[in-house]
Amino acid sequence: MSYGHYDESTREYVVTDPETPRPWTNYLGEGVYGGIVTNTGGGYSFHEDPRNQRVTRYRYNAIPRDQPGRYVYFRDAESEEFWSPTYQPVKADLDDYECRHGPGYTTIEGSNDGISGAITYFVPPGETCEVWDLELTNDSDRERTIETYSYVEFSFPDAYMDQTNLDWTGQIMQADAAPNRITMVSSAMEIDYVHATSGHPVGFDTDREEFVGIYEGLESPEVVAKGTPRDSISTHGNVIGSFTHEITLEPGESERIVYLTAPEADDDVIEEYTDPAAVDEAFEALGDDWDDYLATMTVDTPDENLNAMLNVWNPIQCRSTLYWSRSASLYQAGLGRGMGTRDSGQDTLSIVHAVPDQVRETLEMLWGLQFEDGHTWHQVYPLSGEGDVGIANEEPEKPQWFSDDHLWLVLGTVQYVKETGDTDFLDREIDFEDTDPAPVREHIERALAFTDEHRGKDGLPRLGYSDWNDTLNADHGSGKAASMMTGALYCRALDEAAGLFEHLGKESTANEYRADRDAMAELIDDVAWDGDYYMRGYDDDGTPIGASESEFNQITLNAQTWSILGGIADQDRGEQALSAAHDRLNTEYGFALIDPPYDVEGTLDSIGGTTTYPPGAKENGGIFCHAHTWSIVAAAMLGDGERAHQYYRQLNPLEHEDIADQRLTEPYVYSQNVLGPTHPDFGEASNSWLTGTASWAYVAGTQYLIGVRPTFDGLVVDPTIPADWDAFEVTREFRGATYEITVENPDSVESGVAEIEVDGEEIDGDVVPVFEDGDTHDVRVVMG
Ligand code: GLC
Repeated sequence: MSYGHYDESTREYVVTDPETPRPWTNYLGEGVYGGIVTNTGGGYSFHEDPRNQRVTRYRYNAIPRDQPGRYVYFRDAESEEFWSPTYQPVKADLDDYECRHGPGYTTIEGSNDGISGAITYFVPPGETCEVWDLELTNDSDRERTIETYSYVEFSFPDAYMDQTNLDWTGQIMQADAAPNRITMVSSAMEIDYVHATSGHPVGFDTDREEFVGIYEGLESPEVVAKGTPRDSISTHGNVIGSFTHEITLEPGESERIVYLTAPEADDDVIEEYTDPAAVDEAFEALGDDWDDYLATMTVDTPDENLNAMLNVWNPIQCRSTLYWSRSASLYQAGLGRGMGTRDSGQDTLSIVHAVPDQVRETLEMLWGLQFEDGHTWHQVYPLSGEGDVGIANEEPEKPQWFSDDHLWLVLGTVQYVKETGDTDFLDREIDFEDTDPAPVREHIERALAFTDEHRGKDGLPRLGYSDWNDTLNADHGSGKAASMMTGALYCRALDEAAGLFEHLGKESTANEYRADRDAMAELIDDVAWDGDYYMRGYDDDGTPIGASESEFNQITLNAQTWSILGGIADQDRGEQALSAAHDRLNTEYGFALIDPPYDVEGTLDSIGGTTTYPPGAKENGGIFCHAHTWSIVAAAMLGDGERAHQYYRQLNPLEHEDIADQRLTEPYVYSQNVLGPTHPDFGEASNSWLTGTASWAYVAGTQYLIGVRPTFDGLVVDPTIPADWDAFEVTREFRGATYEITVENPDSVESGVAEIEVDGEEIDGDVVPVFEDGDTHDVRVVMG
């Protein structure tokens, strides 16, 4: 069964049934003030940092699910019946319901007994506040009087404290109310949270227990049920913001009320955004901003679901991951993790063409976490700029460094330079954690040197606390544990760095890196080739992992895909490796990460975290969507357009819209994982939105299937597509010009380019030049 559909004309995902199998969410804001909103109005808000500057509350693991949120109750003064136009929290049957998740906003509309309410939630561009824009309409044929009650529940700014030190936080937060404005304040701290409204409220409440009643729930708060606001002033306990309006509407008449919620009671902002005209203007500006962002690359191919993802929802998701890394979703409570070096390093890859300045700032912050020896902190708290070792601190006896973190920053930085041409960035001095600042160039050199200098068995890179797979914790200090995947990532990073240094005219460094790359590639090809495919590494005793001789985990996906991404396998071995993965790991919902999964009593200390999961879950043989994306890239690099497209479709959430009851998560964004074939709930997805899947699915789709890749000297157009795509179009902005690209495939090939014309002239080679002239250029590519 499906719960909605994508509306191409508005770019919205339209949810048509409020009882989705999980809350289906959207993100508000542009990385400063923002939050999450679900299809029934649930969710929470924060300012810059979901842990330390939480604004509104959310109850994880609560029953009923997905409360509280940004609510407005409706009550018919005559019948005394009340409901929520967003369905939650009252959950009264609605005659009509629709939630439209769009870029940066969500509109939920519900009607009941001739009264409809539509609320649009958004953050005005550049502002530190959120707006709820309510339109109330009388569709019945008689005059009606409707009371409305807004509801927002404030959090103590430290969201962890808000859950744990109720004795303290519950005494120091108090409310203040003035007409049209409720504030939560504290004499001990500078807190000035506000909920404000337009119009002429007839009452208000600020004390949660007064509003709801001790033994009631949000589905039936006493004030709403009785229809009498109490004008309560909270002196301690739980502070809420609630305004009551009383609206009388003739048949066909509408009225608007706007609400503002913000972490600061700034008079100008309150005045501005409680004025409907200013709200309209801000909403238009938000639309323009997203139009610009989404226009940086669009595609028109025969695959409509691919178009919808690449043009709209995948870039929307990529923006959220760049902003919030893995910190605040409905699965990541925003209480602990800061930004991950590995995660954010990869998040930059997808949207550097659209938001180059933000990507540069992210890279600057991440490089600032590097140590003199070349490794980096694993995570960073952006507000304080402090880094730490993240999950490694759970096991201080194991290495307190990761073998991959620093290498992703090399990929991200080279990609940034290819996209923007900004080689000056490489001269920018950036701090180290433990030594004097040095230019970005040197940060890159040290990152590569760290891997070179930390080797395990056979000369493969030593594993450290883990590699990309957080749960592969097999390095206990003997010096033998090793990672083939990090080796392959190192090869790719060396290759990229060699290209960069060559571009800078530093031939000798470039040659050195090429030689290092070739040596590591040969070594991997030699020691990690298992006969039919590549093994994954060694544990602390030097026993192979992911090899045919293993009892569990005889084959891993990443070793096969990365043998191709790292340029280690030649065409033959690459095809063999990917076929082995295809035969043993591929399912209708994507690739399982390993097979067979570990099935052990307790956990296997020699492997670590993976074995805490039951077979088929997460890294223990689940379909780890982020890892799956590399199969698309690998198939494309082998020139296999059919498989590349098949793998793309297996992951595309829109392809699973009709099995939402099994899939559970949103059909418009990627989830981190899907339970694998050995799990009883095979096919069920979880942890949507904040996942590296977003960035890599976009890279796989745009740079490998569609095949438009930035290089130092121009754009390469090198598609790998199914043979039956006879043509497609791409618009791509690149270094100050717009490229209107048409690709023709007259001979029904899967890859290969026979001819490229730019503005009507055939060019030599396959690099479309840089123009930087603000104009539009026509590019005609003929495959063959
Ligand atoms: C999670 C982590 C990511 C890691 C992956 C595989 O998605 O955020 O850093 O690479 O799991 O373990």
